[in-house]
Amino acid sequence: MTPIILDMDPGIDDAVALSIALTNPEIDIKLLTSVAGNVSVEKTTKNLLKLTTFFHQDTLPIAKGAAAPLKKTLSDASYIHGESGMPGYDFPRITSEVITTDAVTAMAHVLVNATEPITIVATGAYTNIAQLIQNHPNLLGKIKKFVLMGGTLTGGNVSSVAEFNVFTDPDAADIVFKSEVPIVLIGLDVTLKALLSLEIIEKIGHMGRTGDMLQKLMKAYGDSAIGGKPMHDVNTICYLLKPEFYTLKDYWIDVIVSGPAIGATVADTQNRWSDGKLNAKVAIDINVSAFEKWLIDQIQKMN
Ligand code: BDR
Ligand code: CA
Repeated sequence: MTPIILDMDPGIDDAVALSIALTNPEIDIKLLTSVAGNVSVEKTTKNLLKLTTFFHQDTLPIAKGAAAPLKKTLSDASYIHGESGMPGYDFPRITSEVITTDAVTAMAHVLVNATEPITIVATGAYTNIAQLIQNHPNLLGKIKKFVLMGGTLTGGNVSSVAEFNVFTDPDAADIVFKSEVPIVLIGLDVTLKALLSLEIIEKIGHMGRTGDMLQKLMKAYGDSAIGGKPMHDVNTICYLLKPEFYTLKDYWIDVIVSGPAIGATVADTQNRWSDGKLNAKVAIDINVSAFEKWLIDQIQKMN
């Protein structure tokens, strides 16, 4: 079992990722934390509660995280994920609860008590993680790695160069990339290759109670490209379970924190600026058909 802390801003692709993480027996979620991003932190927290209730996992600790990026003003993605962040499905009355400690304190608590290194998976802006690094530098040795959805080497989705999660809080991303904790970066270079076709989304609707819920969310999801809808965040969970689907390359990644290229993740491809240092394994390719097969299989198994 892989012990993880899962930090999210659900968000429809976050919701699909969380559904798999909650139901796959190989993943051991020690803590779920929310962050502002796709919608406000009040809404992303509520969405975590909706999903844990849906999957009858009311005892899983859920902590509320940062309401705003470290320095920037939040500009959300409700134009893609709807006003609530998870539209299209009528969830049952919430029975899960938020714990009283904030996300960063709760993360620190998990790390202090961990008997083996913990992987931190982030599918929203990295604000909580940056605060963990700043407030608890003594605990970094207990983090196995960060698996991050975010960034791009080949073109952005909020500007020509920036991906949404990094763009939302570039100052946090800058802290995370300088932390010296091992990083696996799963960005648009692979997530935009593995699109879920409308035919498959149609089929998912016939896969029981969970398929029905996920299909309704996917239909309401405003992110689409020619050929289907990208399930960006699902790739972090897929990577944990099936790393062989991904081709990674070591780079030094620098985050641009101001100006027109704000939020860009620049790879030092010629090793000119980083003295030979490398700070991230970046996903540059994906086995698309294996990912698609795996995703359908995961959803089928949820019922
Ligand atoms: C990322 O941005 C968010 O809108 C998605 O949930 C995903 O985490 C993709 O750029
Ligand atoms: Ca997300």
